[in-house]
Amino acid sequence: MRGKTVVITGATSGIGQVAAEKLAAMGARLVLVARDKTRGEAELTRLQALSSGVNHSIHYADLSRMAEVKRVAAEIAAAEPRIDVLINNAGALFSTRQVTADGLELTFATNHMSYFILTHGLRDRLRAAAPARVVNVASDAHKGEKLDFDDLQSAKSYRGLHVYGRSKLCNILYTRELARRWEGSGVTANSLHPGFVSTRFGDQSGGMLSFAVRAAKAFAISPEKGAGTIIYLASSDDAAQANGLYYYKCRPATPTKEAQDDDSARRLWQASEKLAGIAY
Ligand SMILES: NC(=O)c1ccc[n+]([C@@H]2O[C@H](COP(=O)([O-])OP(=O)(O)OC[C@H]3O[C@@H](n4cnc5c(N)ncnc54)[C@H](OP(=O)(O)O)[C@@H]3O)[C@@H](O)[C@H]2O)c1
Repeated sequence: MRGKTVVITGATSGIGQVAAEKLAAMGARLVLVARDKTRGEAELTRLQALSSGVNHSIHYADLSRMAEVKRVAAEIAAAEPRIDVLINNAGALFSTRQVTADGLELTFATNHMSYFILTHGLRDRLRAAAPARVVNVASDAHKGEKLDFDDLQSAKSYRGLHVYGRSKLCNILYTRELARRWEGSGVTANSLHPGFVSTRFGDQSGGMLSFAVRAAKAFAISPEKGAGTIIYLASSDDAAQANGLYYYKCRPATPTKEAQDDDSARRLWQASEKLAGIAY
């Protein structure tokens, strides 16, 4: 990874943190997108200690807010002439329905719209580095879920785990459509399930959900193991040609029928463009 620039979100914790540190140890230069200054600076210091002569950098944004995602994408695009890998990883689960300043449901905004807008904002820099890669962290939590295009903001009913699962279904559908649309550009896009991992995930969800996730973590794998497929998709020669696929344990896996529905993928794309006020 020497000489490569990797942009990653959510590297102040969990699998994103492990992936960033492993990629830095492999020689990559990391550009972090974080929201918390204390955790962000601490991570930058850790990365700097892993690399000699490589200048990692950090940009701050709350990725649940569309204006912030657009701003941070523009900042990064201005600072980085080329980006070899973009890892959309930041994500969260919320026990109660919350609405952002943009009028979006918070899980959908954080877990899906941030991937959609950040990737759009960095598209020219990814193309400038072709062959380049987009790696989207999704989840097997998409299983059993289906998108309701009349209620993408979960206003009719809200159940935290289902809304989370649908946001992860969005990640897989978005990745398929991105891969299809960018075919031939030299930029590939793949998504993945990291496994059930013991991280800070769920700690801030609130209510019984935090309690349940914490209890379940006794059976979870380590962040080191969970980060494996991110690192593989970001760096391995084997994955260089892969495009539009869903991975688990460093191998292509089959997501649900709903996650392979190209009509849904197109509709989600169009709805997301409209909500974000952008055209790819
Ligand atoms: N853990 C699992 O079992 C599991 C399973 C399947 C998929 N995943 C997916 O893996 C990804 C990483 O999760 P994790 O398990 O590593 O969780 P984590 O330890 O909670 O880390 C989440 C990261 O996302 C960042 N983040 C959350 N909301 C943000 C926002 N609004 N703006 C900017 N950054 C934000 C957090 O920043 P702060 O440090 O500021 O909080 C943190 O760096 C997520 O997409 C999740 O859906 C996890």
